[in-house]
Amino acid sequence: MFSYFSVFKDESKLDINYVPPRLPHRKAELDLLNQFFRFTIENPGRMTQRVLIVGKIGTGKTVISQSFGANMTKQARQRNVNLHYVHVNCRECKGSFFMILQRVILRFYPNFPKRGYSGEELLQALMQILDEKKAYVILALDELEALVQSEGSDPIYSLTRVQEERAETAQRLSLIGILREMHHLDKLDPSTRSTLQHNIVHFKEYSKPQLRDILNDRITWAFKEDTVQAQTLDAVAEAAVSEGGDARYAIELLWRAGKYADTERAKEVWPEHVRKAASSVYAGVRKDTLAELGLHEQLFLLGIARRFNLTDAAHITMGEAEEAYAIVCEELGEKERKHTQLWKYAKLLSVLEIIGTQPSSLGHRGKTTFISLPTTPASELERELSRILRIQAT
Ligand SMILES: Nc1ncnc2c1ncn2[C@@H]1O[C@H](COP(=O)(O)OP(=O)(O)OP(=O)(O)O)[C@@H](O)[C@H]1O
Ligand SMILES: [Mg+2]
Repeated sequence: MFSYFSVFKDESKLDINYVPPRLPHRKAELDLLNQFFRFTIENPGRMTQRVLIVGKIGTGKTVISQSFGANMTKQARQRNVNLHYVHVNCRECKGSFFMILQRVILRFYPNFPKRGYSGEELLQALMQILDEKKAYVILALDELEALVQSEGSDPIYSLTRVQEERAETAQRLSLIGILREMHHLDKLDPSTRSTLQHNIVHFKEYSKPQLRDILNDRITWAFKEDTVQAQTLDAVAEAAVSEGGDARYAIELLWRAGKYADTERAKEVWPEHVRKAASSVYAGVRKDTLAELGLHEQLFLLGIARRFNLTDAAHITMGEAEEAYAIVCEELGEKERKHTQLWKYAKLLSVLEIIGTQPSSLGHRGKTTFISLPTTPASELERELSRILRIQAT
């Protein structure tokens, strides 16, 4: 067996779920969160708090909230306060209030029966459990959009009111809502919205020097010494700034550039590797465009990308696209949209120039529409959509 030189010493430090020990340029935001929740360790039970974290993709909302939670519970332990930080991703819970509450309760009672309760009953059960255990919870609802989209105001209304109905007892449940854009809350009724809007922590997009600092740490931890040149770091930061100051993109691009260097058996990572890596990420389609599509538009496109990955053909039929979409929906437990709706998606994706659509020629059996992928490699599209949807690429 040959063993080739690799520029990496520990690729896991570039993994999407890796929580780094240091989070440069978010101190002010962390301090603010600590301020908002200081009472939970100083005066637990006296009040509750609701805070929103709002910022674009890859601005560190999830990682900062988790790191805040870890630090807060550690401090609480030192003071013998039974505080728990529970981080739940609403999209992973398919926007279901029931599933979200279930996850929280399972943290306390792993054997809690999975059936037989309504969302409202689960919430009451949770409050009872917290009373019994004399526990306090900071519940972080990540990707809150998903919950609002699927269930509207009711869950958040219940969560914010459940304490007020218990004015005589200890206040146990605080909330952090995490979302990309405020406008997702437009759907909420005005009073629920206003209770949430008191404390907002805005996460700005990272600037180039900030991204450079974030990347620098990762280079130290993930790459062998002196394998990544200063100008390479600069090229990655530059590219990530033009992608909207997205740290996730920056870290992924760095990793890919390293992969290119390894493939070429280079001893160092150069800006050319970054350029290659960057141009291989959705050559024709801007990332924002994909991220801003609706969930089922993304799922439909993912089906198309996967189908193209399995074929050398220049186009697939609308029927094949629908089949592929159905498989994606089944895999993710999503309810399929109807044929007429899929037509609208195809039309939209074609207007956005992500796919091409063309009626089949007369010779083709039955009349259908052919779908092509004119500018973007299917594998890149699949990868990017999987990244946005946070699912494992096939
Ligand atoms: N200040 C930072 N220092 C170090 N790494 C960071 C920092 N901010 C973000 N990251 C890293 O960048 C990536 C994206 O961060 P994160 O997942 O928290 O973004 P997000 O704002 O939650 O994005 P999304 O809206 O897509 O959920 C993660 O790998 C995270 O570890
Ligand atoms: Mg996040």
